[in-house]
Amino acid sequence: MKRLVVLSGAGISAESGLKTFRDMDGLWEQYDVTEVASPEAWQRNPELVLRFYNERRKQLFECEPNAGHIGLAQLQDDYDVRIITQNVDDLHERAGSRNVLHLHGELKKARSTVDESLVYDLDNWELKPGDCCEKGSQLRPHVVWFGEPVTAIPDAVALVESADIMVVIGTSLNVYPAAGLLNYTRENVPVFLIDPNPPFQVSPEVHIIAMKAGAGVTELERILKQ
Ligand code: APR
Repeated sequence: MKRLVVLSGAGISAESGLKTFRDMDGLWEQYDVTEVASPEAWQRNPELVLRFYNERRKQLFECEPNAGHIGLAQLQDDYDVRIITQNVDDLHERAGSRNVLHLHGELKKARSTVDESLVYDLDNWELKPGDCCEKGSQLRPHVVWFGEPVTAIPDAVALVESADIMVVIGTSLNVYPAAGLLNYTRENVPVFLIDPNPPFQVSPEVHIIAMKAGAGVTELERILKQ
């Protein structure tokens, strides 16, 4: 089976009702990222940080995967599909994708602030001050904040280097190191980009499918079948 590697961003979850970051009315229009998604923010005002992620987690518990997530999961019938996502939602997994690598962590998990190997599944939306790990330290969102290392990058680079087909979907390619992953595709590997407003900084040989995720993945399937 050919290996089809996907790099997804917030745009693939937009049709599920989750806000993106940099679109109109995106999350970074509502919040100052330095106040809710950085280690300094956590030191300064942990309650605000917990509230920011609680709001997003509450929404996540109430939404479903969309046709984009489901279409990618269905591609597993014909391809060895590996998903690299910048998203912290679990919609790829809930749509049936079996190989998902989260570059920026997972919203439905929390981790210890004294031992980062202690990671816990959250079965409800609220993480509160006083919720502690087994060693008694406050739990934090298991999410990569601005200024923190993206430890999954080496694995993501290896996946992109192994791709026979590369698909980028729903990302503005604004945030590194994730945005740099495209540079690791091998020679002559076809790259498809699905986005209604494609980012301008992609090379000319990228096949642009200027559609939303749901319709775009259907169009991708049609092209791949040719
Ligand atoms: N279908 C497909 N793509 C869409 C849709 C849709 N329905 N709606 C919007 N998009 C596209 C936008 O055109 C944009 O290119 O999704 C992209 C969303 O870009 P961002 O909001 O910047 O999200 P993302 O690229 O995932 O951000 C990367 O930045 O803030 C950090 O950690 C955060 O993981 C996030 C990272």
